Amino acid sequence: MTNPGTAPRAHITGWGRYVPSQVLTNADLERMVDTNDEWIVSRTGIRERRVAAADETTASMAAVASLRAIRTAGIDPDEIDLILLATLTPDYWMPSTAALVKEAIGNTRAAAMDVAAACSGFVYAFSTAQAYIASGLAKHVLVIGAELLTRFLDYTDRSTCILFGDGAGAVVVSASNEPGGTLGVELTTEPQGAYMIWLPAGGAKSPPSSETIARGEHYIRMEGRETYRFATRTLASTALASVRKAGLEPSDVSLFIPHQANIRIIEAVAKGLDLPMERMFVNLDRYGNTSAASVPIALAEAVNEGRVQVGDNICIVAFGAGFTSGAATIEWTADPARGVAGDVAVGPADVHVRLPVDWDSVDPIPPALAELMARPGLVNPPLDDVVPGEPPAEPAVPAASTSGR
Ligand SMILES: CC(C)(COP(=O)(O)OP(=O)(O)OC[C@H]1O[C@@H](n2cnc3c(N)ncnc32)[C@H](O)[C@@H]1OP(=O)(O)O)[C@@H](O)C(=O)NCCC(=O)NCCS
Repeated sequence: MTNPGTAPRAHITGWGRYVPSQVLTNADLERMVDTNDEWIVSRTGIRERRVAAADETTASMAAVASLRAIRTAGIDPDEIDLILLATLTPDYWMPSTAALVKEAIGNTRAAAMDVAAACSGFVYAFSTAQAYIASGLAKHVLVIGAELLTRFLDYTDRSTCILFGDGAGAVVVSASNEPGGTLGVELTTEPQGAYMIWLPAGGAKSPPSSETIARGEHYIRMEGRETYRFATRTLASTALASVRKAGLEPSDVSLFIPHQANIRIIEAVAKGLDLPMERMFVNLDRYGNTSAASVPIALAEAVNEGRVQVGDNICIVAFGAGFTSGAATIEWTADPARGVAGDVAVGPADVHVRLPVDWDSVDPIPPALAELMARPGLVNPPLDDVVPGEPPAEPAVPAASTSGR
């Protein structure tokens, strides 16, 4: 999908990310399940991941990351025309999490919808934003990847529970007639891999029941080796197709920002593209696999750490359940220094996600994580939901300790 000559170009003008403050280390996991730090680090590269607090949701994390991205872009939230939120862990089946985020960031105008393409979701949503901009249907699109995976893991299954973490990232994609911006996009879907990573129960095929819960079908399941094979085969080929659609070669790309699933997979991509690991951005050691959030979190960190400069070509690339994969090659045009200021300007206390009236949710923290979440220094929020319009209850410990990064 190379940009036609006269169509507006899709430039990233804002970026932001949010991760919860609670850290779950490999040592913590050693106390929960039969695993060890050496195995996890050598097979995946992951050292720790973040866990959302009881009062955090996919929407609340997404809203913080979004406001940071909007602040970085230097626009008003109401200038956003379209909100696309990629997630496999929405707050609810309905309404969309994007609708909740729209209100939380103070936008009154945008259309808002969720995008389901698992770990490739952010790249799929980004490509949708690019199409809306190129067609003239939108001027500013907010693209979010947000996940709260730690509530969908079986903490007796050592092959999955060590991999995933929580967080959110967002970008503002804006129309411009200036050169640069999104140059080439590639998306693939291979349904023969549909059941290699899946969450069996809760949907129409197998509605939630005491039986599905007893069978543990509300947790993520994965065929690790098959998924690994798909990832190593497809990530490099998808990235290459996107780079070539941009009229470039891999050596013209200064930084690849791949889905942060496994360091060995990223090493295979570097090898497949015949590039050194210095051209691959890696932060999975600190966050694990945050699914649709992983690429936008990594993108925001890469820019804020000075790894991306104006005029650089970058390539975001992801794979995930479906099997899906997607890549976008982008010529960077925004001042990288803006991101840090956007991060500092917005904190979790700046967002309020609408809560339901007359409905008290149960404690969302999985029993296996209860001890971790009860550690001193963390909030112990009351579980009574706050009715819109009513003041929130006082937190048990000062709110300062709740702020994530
Ligand atoms: C999950 C993954 C790390 C497992 O690594 P692997 O090298 O394929 O390991 P295997 O599944 O073959 O298991 C090898 C052994 O380690 C054991 N093992 C699995 N998880 C373990 C853990 N957390 N700790 C210790 N041992 C573990 C297995 O039981 C097996 O033991 P056995 O040989 O005695 O049967 C790897 O397959 C992977 O990363 N796959 C892709 C997953 C992914 O990216 N998913 C997200 C998609 S978006």
